[in-house]
Amino acid sequence: MNSSSYIDQVKSEISEKVKGRAIMAVSGGQDSSLLSVLASQVLGDRLLCVFVDTGLIRIGEADRVRKFFEDHGMNYRIVDASDRFIGALKGVTDPEEKRKIIGKTFIDVLNEEAENFQAEYLLQGTIAPDWIESGGQKRDTIKSHHNVGGLPKEMKLKLVEPLRDFYKDEIRSMSRELGLRTDLQPFPGPGLAVRIMGEVTPEKIDLLRKATKIVEDKIENALKPDQRPWQYFAVLLPVRTTGVHGDRRAYGYTVAVRMIDSIDAMTGTFTKPSWDLLEDIANTITDELPEINRVVYDITNKPPATIEWE
Ligand code: XMP
Repeated sequence: MNSSSYIDQVKSEISEKVKGRAIMAVSGGQDSSLLSVLASQVLGDRLLCVFVDTGLIRIGEADRVRKFFEDHGMNYRIVDASDRFIGALKGVTDPEEKRKIIGKTFIDVLNEEAENFQAEYLLQGTIAPDWIESGGQKRDTIKSHHNVGGLPKEMKLKLVEPLRDFYKDEIRSMSRELGLRTDLQPFPGPGLAVRIMGEVTPEKIDLLRKATKIVEDKIENALKPDQRPWQYFAVLLPVRTTGVHGDRRAYGYTVAVRMIDSIDAMTGTFTKPSWDLLEDIANTITDELPEINRVVYDITNKPPATIEWE
């Protein structure tokens, strides 16, 4: 099979299964962007694409997604629900609990949108690795991926998942065929919350957002798209360590930088970038963010580690 027959297969599944109005949450990532384009070609205004701003997204992300919706002439809504998410996460430190709270809040927001739009169907860009890792097969649940765990069951909508048998490389070839960007890195549904170890607070989100932007900009400026790691990001650790700022002793946060090469997210090896690039990232983070005084590099493959830290 080639990418245009995959596309035909996806579009005919949508037109056969979706007989009324449909809603879909679009994250702006590769999978949901691809599905939203194909589904809007089939369904037109019978499809409402919703981008939920969880307050846990990266700098510039909502604007980028708005532009994508506009460029493709889609019927869309951008919902700023950041206060709801951050409020619900207050005091929570357990990783699975964080994921579940985010998933539940996401469902609430999407349910409200679905009701307003009178949607009967939920389109979801689940791909094969998502459900395999959420316990869909014989393996134990590794992480509750919020785009799988609970969403369909609690939404009372008819679920349609036209990408569920495809892997990342097939998604990329379909996206290329449609002229969509393929240089986008995956970004987890629970967003920066799974990259902030321990409690998520507005202060930590702000710090991690800025550190993430530095990591992304440095890598994107230094490396051409085909030389970049498959995924690259910053993680904010709850440990504080001693450092010096000017001539004063400082007690600051640690940021871990993760860069990983992978094909389908099922396995991965840590990237071996140049020391100069790593040094530049570390210097810029500690110069621009005085609350952070230590940067470490994650040299663990998947397995045994997962790509995200939580
Ligand atoms: P892990 O950390 O399980 O991640 O090795 C594998 C890939 O999946 C992304 N990821 C998620 N994507 N919802 C998503 O849509 C999630 O809950 C989620 N958790 C992890 C991760 O960024 C990596 O690309």
